[in-house]
Amino acid sequence: MGVYPVVLSQAKFVHRDSLKYPFEERGLQFGDGIYEVIRIYRGNYYLLTEHVERLFRSAKAIKLELPYTKTELTELLNGLIKRNQMTEDGKVYLQATRGSAPRDHVFPENLTANVYAYISKQARPLNQLEHGVCTITERDIRWEKCYIKSLNLLPNILAKQTAKEKECYEAILHKDGLVTECSSSNVYLVKDGHIYTHPVTENILHGCVRMAVERFSEKLNIPFIEEAFTLEDIKSADELFLTSSTSEVLPIVKVDGAPVADGKPGPISKKLQAAYEQDASIQTETVKQ
Ligand code: PDD
Repeated sequence: MGVYPVVLSQAKFVHRDSLKYPFEERGLQFGDGIYEVIRIYRGNYYLLTEHVERLFRSAKAIKLELPYTKTELTELLNGLIKRNQMTEDGKVYLQATRGSAPRDHVFPENLTANVYAYISKQARPLNQLEHGVCTITERDIRWEKCYIKSLNLLPNILAKQTAKEKECYEAILHKDGLVTECSSSNVYLVKDGHIYTHPVTENILHGCVRMAVERFSEKLNIPFIEEAFTLEDIKSADELFLTSSTSEVLPIVKVDGAPVADGKPGPISKKLQAAYEQDASIQTETVKQ
């Protein structure tokens, strides 16, 4: 499993050991590229259309021409699951860079993008889903186009590493006290039965699970308010949770060492977890209501 990545620029499946790129590669030298992480449950993609759409939006934003249409990409990604006989829970990592060429800040002409995608196993974070996770808060020092799923992740990995060093799962990022998102997930606050989260501006990644959560909230009649909350608001929050393709809907039970409300996953987070499981057809006994 995961042995045969697909080189999308050539629509070809290869053995992973034969996949080699020169060191003058724009993704490596400039971070000149974009990526996607797509969830797989029991050999089936979850929210595939949303991820494909976002990849094309990111490509357009950095003037990168992808060597296929959305339909062709979808077919190739489905082929990737079949070629690797993937039937378990996992994920696809897809990366598209501007290509290989002698180093030059200016885009070299007639360059073909380097695009590949590969599968790996990824179990659901069942323990964290049930008990919730701890987070820290960090200043959001990223650039002004965070809606692009860019390869430039230094601020994100530094924030996540700081969280890890403090034995936490994630870092909640804020600009002057206003919460944007986490280092690799979107974040939400619940107060008096309403969900609050940063609006989809250029300052956050437009999460595919975020889109799904908005849809679940509508179905569950829970007001979904796209209004940024503050670090101060967290202190009196009823619940806090984060979402991503790998984390699903994950309750946050502690922020910078202080419990969120009673320090246990709250009822709205649990309802959204159940809605997620139903939507992704992955109902288990583990996430209790
Ligand atoms: N990260 N915000 C940021 C900064 C992210 O990196 C991610 C995803 C999200 C959530 O997006 P989605 O719901 O589409 O997964 C929000 C992926 C999982 C990663 O980089 O590994």
